[in-house]
Amino acid sequence: MTDWAAPVLAVDGPGGSGKGTVCRALADAIGWHLLDSGAIYRALAVAAENRGLDVDDPCALADLAYRLDVVFEPAPNRHSRVFVDGADVSMRLRSETAGDLASRVAALPEAREALLERQRAFRKAPGLVADGRDMGTVVFPDATLKVFLTATPAERAQRRHNQLKEQGVDVSLAHLLDEIAVRDERDRNRAIAPLKPATDAELVDTTGLSVDEVVERLLNLLQKRLS
Ligand code: C5P
Repeated sequence: MTDWAAPVLAVDGPGGSGKGTVCRALADAIGWHLLDSGAIYRALAVAAENRGLDVDDPCALADLAYRLDVVFEPAPNRHSRVFVDGADVSMRLRSETAGDLASRVAALPEAREALLERQRAFRKAPGLVADGRDMGTVVFPDATLKVFLTATPAERAQRRHNQLKEQGVDVSLAHLLDEIAVRDERDRNRAIAPLKPATDAELVDTTGLSVDEVVERLLNLLQKRLS
């Protein structure tokens, strides 16, 4: 059940802006729940792929989204383990293919609508750190604090490259830069819930900042808002 009184820190921004790592560190630091909304879109894409569905078919995707069997098993300081239809898809979910499919699924208004309540249900005491593209604009418009993280495309590609390398995946930097450009274009220009800062969001450029520096900046902003 959604706890509408629980405070929400909404963190939006493009892929590679550092949101995921920062949100996990923040949630751990203050003991709040974490919503990785991108993982929900990725899980929907994987479930569609498992069933051989066309990821651009709005009716099929919305129908699947309402019934989606996805379970998050939180793990401190690490990505949660994610189960779709009972199977552990944690690694598959973080692949570039799943990310690309997720961004196609995410462009369907019917699928987004079908996932709204599922995302809001993460709002529970003592609070929620919500990581996504439309947390402050659509899912939690009454969030306690809205932050929009950015970083230059070159830095975002480099971060993605490092992440993939850690996972033993070797992809060229140039390829990642191209993928980031395509995904940004799709996320910014889609008709529904496009990637853009809420009018009342704090903009934070993370280029050249460490994770700890960004976390500290966000904690300061949140403390001011809560006091
Ligand atoms: O953040 P992540 O890379 O896991 O998200 C995968 C894709 O899901 C994004 O490229 C975006 O298209 C979509 N997404 C979205 N709205 C969210 C979170 C993710 O449209 N709140």
